[in-house]
Amino acid sequence: MMVDIHCHILYGVDDGPKTIEEAVVLSRKLTEKGVSKVIATPHFIGDYDLKPTPECVNKLISQLNGELHNQGIELSIYPGMEVFASDDTVDRIKNGEILTLNNSKYVLIEFSFENIPKYMSNLLFSMQLEGYIPIIAHPERYSLQYRRSGIIKEAVEKGALIQVNSGSLMGYHGKEVRKEAIRLIKEGMVHLIANDAHGGKRPIPSMKDVEKVLIEICGTENTDIIFYKNPVLVFENKEVERMKLVSKGSFLIEMLRSLRPNM
Ligand SMILES: [Fe+2]
Repeated sequence: MMVDIHCHILYGVDDGPKTIEEAVVLSRKLTEKGVSKVIATPHFIGDYDLKPTPECVNKLISQLNGELHNQGIELSIYPGMEVFASDDTVDRIKNGEILTLNNSKYVLIEFSFENIPKYMSNLLFSMQLEGYIPIIAHPERYSLQYRRSGIIKEAVEKGALIQVNSGSLMGYHGKEVRKEAIRLIKEGMVHLIANDAHGGKRPIPSMKDVEKVLIEICGTENTDIIFYKNPVLVFENKEVERMKLVSKGSFLIEMLRSLRPNM
């Protein structure tokens, strides 16, 4: 079972597919790439008047699941949101405006790509005080300011989780983003890989190709944890596993292993 915990698959709610037909095309593509379950994570921006409501998300999911079933596409969609952080995020989770990932304790949250908000550390801490676990979406795409401040590392040390985009690893967001994604993984700071697909706008790599790249970066055991096991554990509302230390020679060892399987 391959679970994708970050996907803009619902139609007409954000910058994902515009129609149900486009959503079906994206669904088909995801199954072809090896995905079987998807948590729909439309953007939730508190200040935006047209933000999706939980009712709207659930309604779209049941329509799309029905259509996928009718067309024989073996993909199931579950509820979630990608929350754009603001200082009232915790209140909005508590009052039921924000959907967690498949109704678990995990909340997918993204921050301004450019500037670190002053309330970032406090927000991540208060979410955890309320029993939620923040998953920071694709920090490899954030500005240099984040890297220099060490704020992501600090957030992880204090219990936040990190989700890296498969496309970042494949170089779809440029060399710098790819380098940062690799650095985060090598430092053992990553918990989850997801596609963050947006309809036809971004290519979706084959899961086999992503797996290959991950094994080269952090070895088979870590790949299994961040690519296969942890998305399922989030989906099932269980504790995720931490990465094992990435040895500097893991790339060489894996290469030798593939040449000499009895190593
Ligand atoms: Fe996203």
